[in-house]
Amino acid sequence: MESADNPTTPERKALWGGRFEGHPQEFTQRFGASLPVDRRMWREDIRGSQAHARMLGRQGVLSKEDVESIVAGLDKVGARIESGEFVWDVEDEDIHMAIERSLTADIGDAGGRLHTARSRNDQVATDARLYAKELALDLADSLLAIRSTLVEVAAKNPGAVMPGYTHMQRAQPVLFAHHMLAYSWMFARDFTRVMAAYDAADTLPLGSAALAGTTYPLDRSYVAEQLGFAAVSQNSLDAVSDRDFLLDLDYACSVGMVHLSRLAEELVLWSTGEFGFVTMSDAYSTGSSIMPQKKNPDFAELVRGKSGRVVGHLVALLVTLKGLPLAYNKDMQEDKEGVFDAVDTLSDCLKVMDGMVATMHINIEAMRADAQGGFMAATDLADYLVGKGLPFRQAHEVVGRIVLECEKADRTLQSLTPSELGGFSDLFDDDAIKAVDIDRVVARRTTVGGTGHDAVAAQLARACELLAKDVSRVKALRG
Ligand code: ARG
Repeated sequence: MESADNPTTPERKALWGGRFEGHPQEFTQRFGASLPVDRRMWREDIRGSQAHARMLGRQGVLSKEDVESIVAGLDKVGARIESGEFVWDVEDEDIHMAIERSLTADIGDAGGRLHTARSRNDQVATDARLYAKELALDLADSLLAIRSTLVEVAAKNPGAVMPGYTHMQRAQPVLFAHHMLAYSWMFARDFTRVMAAYDAADTLPLGSAALAGTTYPLDRSYVAEQLGFAAVSQNSLDAVSDRDFLLDLDYACSVGMVHLSRLAEELVLWSTGEFGFVTMSDAYSTGSSIMPQKKNPDFAELVRGKSGRVVGHLVALLVTLKGLPLAYNKDMQEDKEGVFDAVDTLSDCLKVMDGMVATMHINIEAMRADAQGGFMAATDLADYLVGKGLPFRQAHEVVGRIVLECEKADRTLQSLTPSELGGFSDLFDDDAIKAVDIDRVVARRTTVGGTGHDAVAAQLARACELLAKDVSRVKALRG
């Protein structure tokens, strides 16, 4: 490792070399560089530069020959990066300089004319927006995939009953399909958030130059059209310092991770010996190096654990931007690393959870057995008495006493005979036993969004409808 106070004497001058007599030290050069992070945006940088050059040609700022040479030269640079031949150099501070330097080495003076009427400030904002749009569409695809898995798992298990919880105490029975669909709605909202980030990124900043616009007669709409941007930014100061679209992406990723983390937590619980509702496939489990019997839900735990880091990236970017005066400040170079990691993490976690849900075995009998216990039909038994004319508060009191007695005798509500029930209230008839039948308890929840079988079938149809609509939205944008 080089020591920090060991100055290097670079053979090449920096791109701003004219005003400088000294050279940066290798350590500070590396400290100031963003190349390891932003080289991911090489395709966007090349596309942006080609669009800029073509526009300058149309406007008479660059000659036709220069434009041709730049566009073809950039294609060649791109091919070198793609094939792995491109030599990445620590002296290139960022992807913009790396590509321009390589281009100029290839084509000479024409390469030096590419940066006319442009600054890295509007260039990096353009690249980041193009890249953010791609990332948003990739995330949208992964969200669509997990939604389709959840919908499928729900459709395959229409009658499975499980305990529903509040305060982590058994509350009322619900359909397993209802529980799975709950997550599909969460991921549907995440899809909306990701697409909102896409829309936020869909404005072209190029043409704002360093901060004030430029004296050249630019046709910004033509650049926007070539790059597929829906609009052109209206304020150059805002355009070069706006990172809202990255915040939006970070936020969408954070909420998505929180949703995944909640699902992961449920799967960790459900796969315990105590719950036994699901058995994870071996592909999504690991063993212990010491305890031969162990099958650990490591991947669900990791998803839960990684959510913290992604939420951290959102907070980090908010705090980075908070104190910045207009317009561009170098602090903003710190914007990309966290967002890229947030997107990569959410993308990986969506894939892992999708596979985990698709392959887990659902222990229908175990869920059903637990749904019989815990007095989860108590509300329905009270409703039965309400149906016979008793005010709800009194019905609540009567059933409360029944539960207390059952608890002492270690009995379930379903095991009570008509005469035992009659001991608590004259209003109980022979049909009272139907009130506590677990399938009927579920089926009675017929309101829109309720857990009744028919309501869930209707919900499933609506979830599929929305899914199909969202699939075609992404398809249309990909073109
Ligand atoms: N690497 C820089 C970034 O990511 C590009 C813009 C640099 N602009 C400047 N004036 N130093 O923000």
